[in-house]
Amino acid sequence: MSTPYPLLLEIDEYVERLFVPRDPVFEQSLRDATAAGLPEINVSPNEGKLLYLLAKLSGAKRALEIGLLGGYSTMWLAKALGPEGRLVTLEIDEKCVQVAGKNLERAGLSSRVDIRHGDARASLEKMIAAGEDPFDLVFIDANKEAYPAYLDYAMKLVRPGSLILADNVIRDGKVARDGQTDPLVLGIQEFNRKLAANPRLESIMVMLLREALDGLAIARVKE
Ligand code: DHB
Ligand code: MG
Repeated sequence: MSTPYPLLLEIDEYVERLFVPRDPVFEQSLRDATAAGLPEINVSPNEGKLLYLLAKLSGAKRALEIGLLGGYSTMWLAKALGPEGRLVTLEIDEKCVQVAGKNLERAGLSSRVDIRHGDARASLEKMIAAGEDPFDLVFIDANKEAYPAYLDYAMKLVRPGSLILADNVIRDGKVARDGQTDPLVLGIQEFNRKLAANPRLESIMVMLLREALDGLAIARVKE
């Protein structure tokens, strides 16, 4: 990986060597996603392990993912939920649904994962209208411009104590600067402000190294 942050890359690789044992099935899923032409914007192994641990620490059994891509983060979360766990994942792109479906099958995780193909906002509307049971954990990792809307939907699908996680909340530090024009950055900035201002949530975000610096938002719904 090329990065303007060689020291951070060295540390990130060190942490990965120590704490994220290589898993051929997880690695194959990334190769297959790339071979199918999906963008290489999956979470990193270290972020995957962090998602896995957050799911385990919170005792989550029912999770919602917005943005399936090739199913790499899905596999980390589904693994953490255990055999009785259920993960609903929303994806608009047909190719992602196919690639991720195969990856989950190969990992033996398909029975825990319910892939819903279609526009996430429409799926979320439907879930709310249908009175779907609350989720213990929501992971947002899809269209950045829609993050503020995804947060509003997520708030209607959680219970006190649930976790809301969101990828890509740092965007190489652009979020910290005024005068941004990129609609993706503007979407994330609005999301971050909404997250911070929501009186029902206690939240933080942590920096993570990707191609550039990025981050994960971690929020807990108050009791
Ligand atoms: C982008 C999206 C992601 O979810 C990610 O992790 C990195 C980049 C993007 O759309 O640019
Ligand atoms: Mg992402």
